[in-house]
Amino acid sequence: MKRMLVTGAVGQIGSELTMLLREKYGGDQVLAAGHHTKPTQKLENSGPFEFIEITKPGEVTNIIKKYEIGTIYHMAAILSAVGEKKPQLAWDVNMNGLYYILEAARESNCAVFVPSSIAAFGPNTPKDNTPQDTIQRANTMYGVTKVAGELLCDYYWTRFNLDTRGLRYPGIISYETLPGGGTTDYAVEIYYEALKQKKYECFLGPETQLDMMYMPDALNATIELMEADPDKLVHRNAFNVTAFSITPEHIAASIKKFIPEFTISYKPDPVRQAIADSWPNNMDDSCATREWGWKPQYDLDAMTEDMLKNLKIKLQIN
Ligand code: SER
Repeated sequence: MKRMLVTGAVGQIGSELTMLLREKYGGDQVLAAGHHTKPTQKLENSGPFEFIEITKPGEVTNIIKKYEIGTIYHMAAILSAVGEKKPQLAWDVNMNGLYYILEAARESNCAVFVPSSIAAFGPNTPKDNTPQDTIQRANTMYGVTKVAGELLCDYYWTRFNLDTRGLRYPGIISYETLPGGGTTDYAVEIYYEALKQKKYECFLGPETQLDMMYMPDALNATIELMEADPDKLVHRNAFNVTAFSITPEHIAASIKKFIPEFTISYKPDPVRQAIADSWPNNMDDSCATREWGWKPQYDLDAMTEDMLKNLKIKLQIN
């Protein structure tokens, strides 16, 4: 079997995806690639690791050849809030980086997973039950790169028969690795602060409704899509997937069930609030269910219980 490559392997999703793929297929089979950040001991000791500069085409090509890569999980990206601060960097990493990955994949005939996002939609997209195929006039640089990325991946599939697949991830909540500069990060921070301070000041307003998902469901969705029967896939880049659609008020109420003294206050940050307001309230993910059997395991309370249990251990809080 040819090896797998995970780019962005030190990031929020990449770090856990690498570990799960290594458990499933063997440590040596999965090359983890990061940018600057030092990998954790766990990541370093469980299989091969390389630092790569995704915006330099030669580096990606060399690594794919050196390790005989057959499947790429391209998780390296700049997220929405950082993308608004540094739009040129977001374009370079998210678009040029993706183009180099696809070109290298084409040369070596690799399958490629590329994450898209709720950010691939914009203010004039239908907000409720957002269809799989609909208007996508994203108005953030992150969103622009996600829409263009979806189109580019579909182009490589139809033009070069390259096996590209993707998911429109909602906000992903997890306890292993912190997200880096997204608009949905509040939904992770809130759990840390609930345990550490018993209170949280939220940078989005109380009624800001967005799709979310717990990490185990996001990882399963990713691997299930890559293992899906290609003949059943009508869509490829990228599938709507969600587990639940919630507001900061909903998460606070869920946390209160386990930590009754928890309180939340609100100080909306204009930039991130505007980004969140341009995204759907809730997506219709029935195409993912129909075409490859998508079904989430965790609802909000099940996630809250598991997050608090695992974060207590991580933060050594009794
Ligand atoms: N979680 C991402 C962000 O907030 C959305 O894809 O940027």
